[in-house]
Amino acid sequence: AILILDFGGQYSQLIARRVRDLNVYCEIKSYKTPAEQIRAAGYKGIIFTGGPNSVYAENSPVCSKEVLELGIPVLGICYGAQLMSYLLGGTVSSSEVREYGKTPVDFDLSKALFHGVESNSVCWMSHTDYISAAPENFQVIATSGACPVAAMANEEKQLYAVQFHPEVEHTIHGNEILRNFLYKICGCVGDWKMSSFAAATIQHIKETVGDKKVICALSGGVDSSVAALLVHKAIGKNLTCIFVDHGFLRKNEGDDVENVFRKQFDMNLIRVNAQERFLSKLEGVSEPERKRKIIGEEFIRVFEEESQKIGHVDYLCQGTIYPDVVESGIGDAAVIKSHHNVGGLPEDVAFTGIVEPLRDLFKDEVRRVGLEIGIPGPLVWRQPFPGPGLAIRIMGEITTEKLDILKEADAIFREEIVSAGLDRSINQYFAVLTGIKSVGVMGDGRTYDYTIALRGVTTSDFMTADWARIPYDLLDKISNRIVNEVKHVNRIVYDITSKPPATIEWE
Ligand code: XMP
Repeated sequence: AILILDFGGQYSQLIARRVRDLNVYCEIKSYKTPAEQIRAAGYKGIIFTGGPNSVYAENSPVCSKEVLELGIPVLGICYGAQLMSYLLGGTVSSSEVREYGKTPVDFDLSKALFHGVESNSVCWMSHTDYISAAPENFQVIATSGACPVAAMANEEKQLYAVQFHPEVEHTIHGNEILRNFLYKICGCVGDWKMSSFAAATIQHIKETVGDKKVICALSGGVDSSVAALLVHKAIGKNLTCIFVDHGFLRKNEGDDVENVFRKQFDMNLIRVNAQERFLSKLEGVSEPERKRKIIGEEFIRVFEEESQKIGHVDYLCQGTIYPDVVESGIGDAAVIKSHHNVGGLPEDVAFTGIVEPLRDLFKDEVRRVGLEIGIPGPLVWRQPFPGPGLAIRIMGEITTEKLDILKEADAIFREEIVSAGLDRSINQYFAVLTGIKSVGVMGDGRTYDYTIALRGVTTSDFMTADWARIPYDLLDKISNRIVNEVKHVNRIVYDITSKPPATIEWE
């Protein structure tokens, strides 16, 4: 295994992710981990992450110098590089200006760390302090405009440091540099797979949860599904999944979820059909934020009632993934929409602990685990679906009639996108029932019916998005099908706004 020694850098998990992508197992631990413990664990290599601005600042995270004396190869990144220099007697200086962004770096290509790298290629820099003089017995192996020591090495002791961030995509040869460190310097073979993650996680849950009882709120989304199935594989019927069907799921979705988890995986699944209850709470409500609040609170009430029926449970299983952890840590980002996540549970529901098997993974890694443990493709590749569901895709008050119209229109849209083979390239696509009615003509008669808006976006992180260029012919086919097959719809529009300024959802 590789140890990623975390000094509080924002890219620590990204480093871990790159290491996993190179099929090497890794663990992230605090910089406070004692050298003895590191030695005992038998790591093949250590990566120091980035961290705060200056090694000289008070309270800066510093590990013991002994970590560099264990005979284990070390790669220091950014702050980690400066720390290595500082601990071994080099000089770290403060510059007036921050070096930030894509920066050309000159490499000494004779070094093993840079095998396959091109000299003068672009690297991602983000630092104020820099190494002004390397410690004794270190060689400077790369330089940049602002860094006399963009990288340094003591090859005999297998100590390496880079000021730039090889883990960030913008560093063109970052992956080669990490690969060289892992394979050539640490001697890793790269035989670790996502299936090993699944097996190790199941084993770990078995050991920590034992014969205790766990509940999980299953939404049918990929994260909660993968988390629940991992726990199920570890403890079987001691896991109870509660699936709250609030009635705002897409066409057939409730039944699909039930089929997969109860029939295919024989999970202990409670489906709560709470459609009536949610609808009556939402009667007369058209303000988007109120809809979200009501649904969020009602969801928790239902979940609470059901968990009380089960009696004592010890653990709550949640499908938290790494980006959720980061997002909730940021804190003061403006609230554009209050996101109702299945995780937002009340404080008065007492659990001994929380099981979050996916906490360290990125979305695409969760999908890989899902496929490994046998979750059907359509569920693994399911596009994101908001907690409040179709309720925020119906403008104005929600009624059963409107829900039925939207479900049908949305199902046609999705079916056509799948048959055109575009379901993986368009990251999210759905229909919206706009509150607008307009005049049309059908057959010989005048109609006065609803307008459906179609929304399709391409995005990698859902923070920004572009509207998808769906071919006109396909839009034409979808439009014809919807007006012909769905009653009370006589007009279809396609949403051509990106995010920002619009959001992906309409409410
Ligand atoms: P917006 O509309 O803010 O959406 O551009 C960004 C992404 O988040 C999803 N979304 C939600 N997901 N609970 C969720 O779990 C919510 O309340 C919620 N609201 C929006 C949205 O579908 C898109 O993928």
